[in-house]
Amino acid sequence: MSNDVLKAISDRRSIRQYKPEQITKEQLDTLLKAAVEAPSARNSQPWHFTVVRDQAVIKEVNDAACDVLAKSGGGYGQVRDIFYSAPTVIFISADKEATPWSSLDCGITAQTIALAAHSIGLGTVLLGLPAMGWDGVNDAKLNALLKFPAGYAFAIAVAVGIPDGTKEAHPVNDGLIDIIG
Ligand SMILES: Cc1cc2nc3c(=O)[nH]c(=O)nc-3n(C[C@H](O)[C@H](O)[C@H](O)COP(=O)(O)O)c2cc1C
Repeated sequence: MSNDVLKAISDRRSIRQYKPEQITKEQLDTLLKAAVEAPSARNSQPWHFTVVRDQAVIKEVNDAACDVLAKSGGGYGQVRDIFYSAPTVIFISADKEATPWSSLDCGITAQTIALAAHSIGLGTVLLGLPAMGWDGVNDAKLNALLKFPAGYAFAIAVAVGIPDGTKEAHPVNDGLIDIIG
C-alpha cells in the first residue's frame, strides 16, 4: 500500500546538514499546529514548545552540553555542534508529573513535528543529546533561558531547517516483530 502519509513515514530521515536560510513563519506555524494535534495520555498535553531561532541561545545550550560530553569520555570528545547549525530548534519540555507517560507523549509530538516538516520539504533531527546540558549545575539557568514552565524538564529537541543533504534509510534490525494469532 502507498499513500502520502506512508510515503512521508518512509522517506523521512534525520537531517544533519542545513542551509543557512531560516524557515518561514508559515512553515513554523504548520509544525506547531501539527505538534499540538499529537495524542497524549489522558489528553494531558504534558508538553511545552520553546522555539529558538536566536543562535546565541542555541549556542549556550550547545556549549553546556558539549562541556559535559567532553568530560564524559565515550567518544564524545570531538562533538562541537549537537544542533548541526540548524536555523531553528524546538525544545520540548515535559510536565513529568502529569502522567507516567509524559516523556513518551513528548516523543510522539516530536515525531509528529518531524513528519509534518518532511511533508512540507523541511528536514529535522530529533535530539536527545542536549539533555547533557542539564547536569545539575546549569539546570536553573537553562530552564530560565528556554522559558520552561515551572516544574517542566527538558524532554527532547527537534532541529529544523531546509535540508542541505540527506542520508540512506536506517537498516532495520531483525527480530523486532512477533505476530500472535
Ligand atoms: C529519542 C531520540 C534521540 C536522538 N538523539 C539524537 C542526537 O542527540 N543526535 C543525533 O544526531 N541524532 C539523534 N537521534 C536521531 C537518531 O540517531 C536517528 O533517528 C537514527 O539513527 C535513525 O536514523 P533516521 O532518523 O534517519 O531514520 C535521536 C533519535 C531519537 C528517536
